[in-house]
Amino acid sequence: MKVEVEPVVSRARQARRAPRSTAGPLIPPDASLRQLAAAAKSCRACPLWKKGKQTVFGEGSVKAKVVFVGEQPGFEEDRAGKPFVGPAGKVLDKGLAAAGIARDEVYVTNIVKHFKWEPKGNQHIHKKPNASEVAACRPWLEAELEEIQPTVLVCLGATAAQALLGRDFRVTQQRGQLIPSPLARYVVATVHPSSILRAPDQESRHREMNLFIADLKKIARVVQVVS
Ligand code: URA
Repeated sequence: MKVEVEPVVSRARQARRAPRSTAGPLIPPDASLRQLAAAAKSCRACPLWKKGKQTVFGEGSVKAKVVFVGEQPGFEEDRAGKPFVGPAGKVLDKGLAAAGIARDEVYVTNIVKHFKWEPKGNQHIHKKPNASEVAACRPWLEAELEEIQPTVLVCLGATAAQALLGRDFRVTQQRGQLIPSPLARYVVATVHPSSILRAPDQESRHREMNLFIADLKKIARVVQVVS
């Protein structure tokens, strides 16, 4: 009897060969932000839809000159269906107010639009999205940016910065640099607001908050000069 032997292919090679699922085919052509948000509700481009309660799409003005992009919704955002409404969102709001930027004049979104978490007791512990989840979700962000055409795209934290500016990008060394990009006139990175909350003591929290506000003030000045 002839036995068919399947070629041995490593898992890593299989993963490289397998077509990666992305949200691309779900994007309706020429869609408004509202239509994009509606289409994203049923996104299954990566397995995170099983984890999050709902898709948390971006929110804000289509006329925004500045778009802020974070990593992924957290627990409160997952519940509310809105980005940056939890503790990190409060820090962002405080920074925006100090820099004279009105939140309702900007657009706020995330690189990944579902909450990735792991259970720990009865808590939901945030888990960083991996490269294929980031890649799967990216077409949504690109569609948002195409619709808004911002002057400045602000990456909040390393996940967003490395996804949009390259894996070698270091927020600690390159924050505040204005980088021309096809995504927006300039892309710039600053810290994620939650890193300010994680600072070890009040003095360093205060210092980090002031640096964050300084980055936001610079962004406000750029928008004034360029627009
Ligand atoms: N952290 C993020 O990166 N995005 C949110 O929307 C909330 C917290």
